Amino acid sequence: MSAVRNMSGQKVKVALLFGGRSAEHDISLISADAVFRNLDKENFDIISIYINTEGRWRHVESPLLPKDELIEGMFLSFLPWGGQNTGIPLDADIYFPVLHGPYGEDGTIQGFLEMADVPYVGAGVLSSAGCMDKASAKVLFKANGLPVVKHLTIREPAWRSGKKEILQQITDELRLPVFVKPANMGSSIGISKVADLRKMADAVELALKFDTKVVVEQGVAGRELECSILGNEKPRASLPGEILPYREFYDYSDKYIDGKTQFKIPAPLSPEMTRYVQRLAVDAYKALECSGMARIDFFLEDKTEKLFLSEINTIPGFTDISMYPKLWEASGIPFPELLNILIDLGISRHKHKKRKGIHFRP
Ligand SMILES: Nc1ncnc2c1ncn2[C@@H]1O[C@H](COP(=O)(O)OP(=O)(O)O)[C@@H](O)[C@H]1O
Ligand SMILES: [Mg+2]
Repeated sequence: MSAVRNMSGQKVKVALLFGGRSAEHDISLISADAVFRNLDKENFDIISIYINTEGRWRHVESPLLPKDELIEGMFLSFLPWGGQNTGIPLDADIYFPVLHGPYGEDGTIQGFLEMADVPYVGAGVLSSAGCMDKASAKVLFKANGLPVVKHLTIREPAWRSGKKEILQQITDELRLPVFVKPANMGSSIGISKVADLRKMADAVELALKFDTKVVVEQGVAGRELECSILGNEKPRASLPGEILPYREFYDYSDKYIDGKTQFKIPAPLSPEMTRYVQRLAVDAYKALECSGMARIDFFLEDKTEKLFLSEINTIPGFTDISMYPKLWEASGIPFPELLNILIDLGISRHKHKKRKGIHFRP
């Protein structure tokens, strides 16, 4: 499969949306940089749209601009009455949100693109929102018979009015260590591993800095596996990969600062376990109505060899060394070809949806 010319026989115009309002702003810049460099310039004209941390938009030359140049200049609100018309020809054939975390990966920008009736890469509104919210994702995984680790969801008002009861409930229902996380975040931001009950309240407070909902999860002593999925109706799975965190767990600095984490691609697994990971990844992808792409993360418990679904990332890291493109590379799809396929999938999803009769009036 390769990207086609647009209806007028010109190169397909791909608008990269990057930056964004979430704490993962800077990660998005690195991902967009790699996507920009790997997009086949023979097939695509690239429109670069930088979104600043306030959520204002700006057309820039490319994501490769230094940050001080990115943040300088006139920004537009996407509401028609929110800014001036600069006459920028933003008539993209497809939009590619290379945005991680809230206001990027959570269905909000997808909803905006749906409202504008334009094709875009990746998951739709429902799937993006469902996967972003770790508490909701677990409910949906469980409802579909998929294995998740034991966990509790804490809402801020309940915590404020009954810390003692909640701490007691954690002690009663879960074993230490646990992982305490904001429901909606990524890149390990706001996550703590708690092995001492006296540190629990601080961990919950930290997570509450990022969201009003917190997930407390049974810690799994085992291996971390990831599998990349690509496709709409017929999703296919890459070879699984493994992460060997350098620190206590795969935290923010391990992910982006130290660079000492080891990756095993493919993960050393038996053929049966490889197939099982791939099958569960496809099942999870379908259960959460994903489309285009996603990276599905797992824990494989050492003692029991039980496989648990951890989370789905609908806009996974896209840097040159990120698992999502790396796993596809190892499975026979180089980065530029992967981008071609993702763009085709976005365009065909939009066409397919348009054929459904939302305009039909009986
Ligand atoms: N239940 C758990 N058991 C063991 N390790 C965990 C657990 N939950 C999270 N971790 C560790 O924390 C990291 C980040 O957690 P994750 O839920 O993937 O959040 P994020 O969306 O920020 O990536 C994981 O990659 C893993 O190293
Ligand atoms: Mg993760």
